Amino acid sequence: MKPKVLVGYKSDNFPEDVADGLRPLADVVRVSGDYSGQLSDTVVLLAAGENVNEDFLAKAPKLKLVSRFGVGYDSVDVDACTRHGVYVCHTPDVLSDAVADLTWALILGWMRRIPEADRYTRVEWAKKRKGFPFGWDMGGKTLGLLGLGRIGVEVTKRGRGFGVKMIYYDVVRRQDIEAQYNITYVTFDELLRTSDIISVHVPLISTTKGILSTKQFQMMKKSAIVINTSRGPVIDQKALTEALKSGNIAGAALDVFEIEPAPLTEELFKLDNVIVTPHMASATWETRRKMAERCAESIKAFLEGKRPPFTVPEQKNVTF
Ligand code: 8YV
Repeated sequence: MKPKVLVGYKSDNFPEDVADGLRPLADVVRVSGDYSGQLSDTVVLLAAGENVNEDFLAKAPKLKLVSRFGVGYDSVDVDACTRHGVYVCHTPDVLSDAVADLTWALILGWMRRIPEADRYTRVEWAKKRKGFPFGWDMGGKTLGLLGLGRIGVEVTKRGRGFGVKMIYYDVVRRQDIEAQYNITYVTFDELLRTSDIISVHVPLISTTKGILSTKQFQMMKKSAIVINTSRGPVIDQKALTEALKSGNIAGAALDVFEIEPAPLTEELFKLDNVIVTPHMASATWETRRKMAERCAESIKAFLEGKRPPFTVPEQKNVTF
């Protein structure tokens, strides 16, 4: 009997031909909806964002590989997986361009008020000239990146064309990138105090949870805007809402939220100085395909008895 590969319920867009490529080696089962009843004989799980923790692993005694359909793996308890002899793979690199593109779309969308301008054009333009959507220049603004990993670097590359001054803070200093793309390392406090635009590009780990909260918003310029395409809980959403309502900062553009899908009653949705998108930074046809192929590469290698490529850094030296 071939080992069972379960394609998790949120992975609707996993291309059929990529799944087909695995069929000679595995029994590929696609599920929509609750799949907890399917876990007892699952060997490989393709996981979108579901929590893979001790409780989950207890229901999946045969599980040997979790292939995260994404680069962030905060939804997976890697220590627990390692204890159970389960590889955790993810999809680095292939989505960095798409996420950087959306980051810039949000920056420009906010600075040039694109959502409001769209509404104005359809409803107001022909009627009157009041409320014309004036925006702000990019040139000369300071863009502060919180995190200069793979995605932060792609955001930096694109920033060169817009004439912004670029600064960053990260726990790891990237002197190679500083020299190559003219971006300056600053302290966290300096980043908060001097940026016109703060864009977040850190993974969600214990030290980054709530890294932007009331104190940090108070340190920012009143004219500053915050962009988040990383993970919702990196920002204390209640504190952000307060900062936006009180005028402590000027605005935000958010692709990610503490709870997803964000409830329709979300207070942020009522604010005019906020742009929101539905966690779609990697959602282009090309990128989602590359992500699927990267997952399949790890799964195929594993099914062929090899150590899967693209394991998460914590499992770099681990072989089960
Ligand atoms: C995906 C992501 O939208 O890569 C990530 O970490 O958050 C996104 O690319 C998500 O993983 C969908 O499954």
